[in-house]
Amino acid sequence: MDTLTVMKNRWSCRAYLDKPVDQEQIEKILESARWSPSGVNAQPWSVAVVTGKTQQQITDALIQAREEQVPDNPDYDFYPAKWQEPYKSRRLDTGLSLYKALGITKDDPDGRMKAWYNNYRFFGAPVGLFVFVDKTMGKGSWLDIGMFVQNIMLAATDQGLATCPQASLVEYPDRVREILSISDDKQLVVGIALGYPDVEQPVNNYRLDRESVENFTNWYD
Ligand SMILES: Cc1cc2nc3c(=O)[nH]c(=O)nc-3n(C[C@H](O)[C@H](O)[C@H](O)COP(=O)(O)O)c2cc1C
Repeated sequence: MDTLTVMKNRWSCRAYLDKPVDQEQIEKILESARWSPSGVNAQPWSVAVVTGKTQQQITDALIQAREEQVPDNPDYDFYPAKWQEPYKSRRLDTGLSLYKALGITKDDPDGRMKAWYNNYRFFGAPVGLFVFVDKTMGKGSWLDIGMFVQNIMLAATDQGLATCPQASLVEYPDRVREILSISDDKQLVVGIALGYPDVEQPVNNYRLDRESVENFTNWYD
């Protein structure tokens, strides 16, 4: 696949086949992503690859925290406290599209809750990646991480794999760090589900549109 096709073909996959991903393939993806740019080539990222028992342990811990209504405690505010337009509407549309694909109606809070919990199961993906940034680094390093994460997702797409970046996996970073024996010098930025897509599932059969270039670009001569 050429680069532009890969960029357009990446999408957030929320149902995976029960098929393992070879370690060599994960290494190949990370080998490509390590060439991501970063300010002064600081490469402020580190990655935990979780599979099997460890992945299950994280799933259990996150579900337990949610069920016990433990207040989430992410290392950073991902979303605004108060949503403003146009982001408010886009967020709503995103949720509506997802629940429609899952066949969950507005008056089914239980269904929504169950769907949300699927986040903690990495949507059934056999591999989870957790990406950390060193605490000592500045805001700019988070930009580096974003590029690194996108490169992971593009490399995976190129390999016929699918991904879903997940803020939901960083709601309880202390639990994740504890299970992985990682010190709190590392801030947890994002989790990523990785695996072979189950393309038969309706949840994988819709795509969200984007604003046109003219709607977000101004040209100056
Ligand atoms: C940093 C980040 C965090 C995200 N967190 C979640 C998440 O927790 N759960 C989820 O289902 N999707 C999550 N998404 C996926 C977005 O909803 C998705 O990228 C967006 O709706 C556009 O759809 P697409 O990725 O299929 O093009 C996240 C995306 C990003 C970039």
